[in-house]
Amino acid sequence: MSIIIDGKATSAAKREEIAKEVAAFRAETGVQPGLAVVMVGDNPASAVYVRNKHVACEGVGMFTETMHLPEETTEDALLELIDELNGDARFHGILVQLPLPKHINETRVLDAISPDKDVDAFHPYNVGALVTGRERFLPCTPAGIMELLRYYDISVAGKNCVVIGRSNIVGKPMAMLLLAKDGTVTVCHSKTKDIKDITKKADILVAAVGRPRFVTADMVKEGAVVIDVGINRLEDGKLCGDVDFDAVSPLASAITPVPGGVGPMTITMLLCNTLTAARLAVSGR
Ligand code: GUN
Repeated sequence: MSIIIDGKATSAAKREEIAKEVAAFRAETGVQPGLAVVMVGDNPASAVYVRNKHVACEGVGMFTETMHLPEETTEDALLELIDELNGDARFHGILVQLPLPKHINETRVLDAISPDKDVDAFHPYNVGALVTGRERFLPCTPAGIMELLRYYDISVAGKNCVVIGRSNIVGKPMAMLLLAKDGTVTVCHSKTKDIKDITKKADILVAAVGRPRFVTADMVKEGAVVIDVGINRLEDGKLCGDVDFDAVSPLASAITPVPGGVGPMTITMLLCNTLTAARLAVSGR
């Protein structure tokens, strides 16, 4: 029987800890950690995420404002807003919800966020800090996965860790965090040959491909820990991960479901980063 890793419960436990830390920080410094969330356009999925971020911040005693800009907002106008937010002491963290409308250069926008307020950890400064082991902010989804492994006492050191997917948001930083915990890490991607031969050797398999049920039972070693980052919407409207859960779960020693696995942890780690940013601001570093 495999363990079903409960992201909801882990997230709730972690948020309780964060709420206590926020209360203690406010009592000690008089500063309320604050997060600005910027959304451009009307992507329905983004609207749900942004709303969840707002509720999550309030739930742990943080200050938050959501700035919802129209689809036709120009890149210059968005850059101007970011500049303002960089200088606004109420906000210790700034998050620009992705994707942005096509006429806006995402890289330019993300690079404009002050590295000290970059709670997504997307800025090249923070990416470099992560790679060299000097990180302040941890990329939210990979950090949420590490937290799940920690809560479930799953050690990484010496394990064969295989990450499927090489995105800047998940795959690459995931590989770095596993490496930092002494995992032996392989990253697979769309050009990888004989992917099954590689995934079959994984003690810890992380799927972040964005293709429904990409990971099938024949790709997984008996006893592996399987982490599913995928959130794919099927034609019937149901959510489905990158892993064929029904076929893979009997094989795995532990597995995350979709929904209710990795997803709930991402916003929780954003809260952690916002508290870190407030601490940085107060300490002047
Ligand atoms: N869109 C999907 N995932 C993310 C994320 O982690 N951060 C931001 N800013 N936008 C996203």
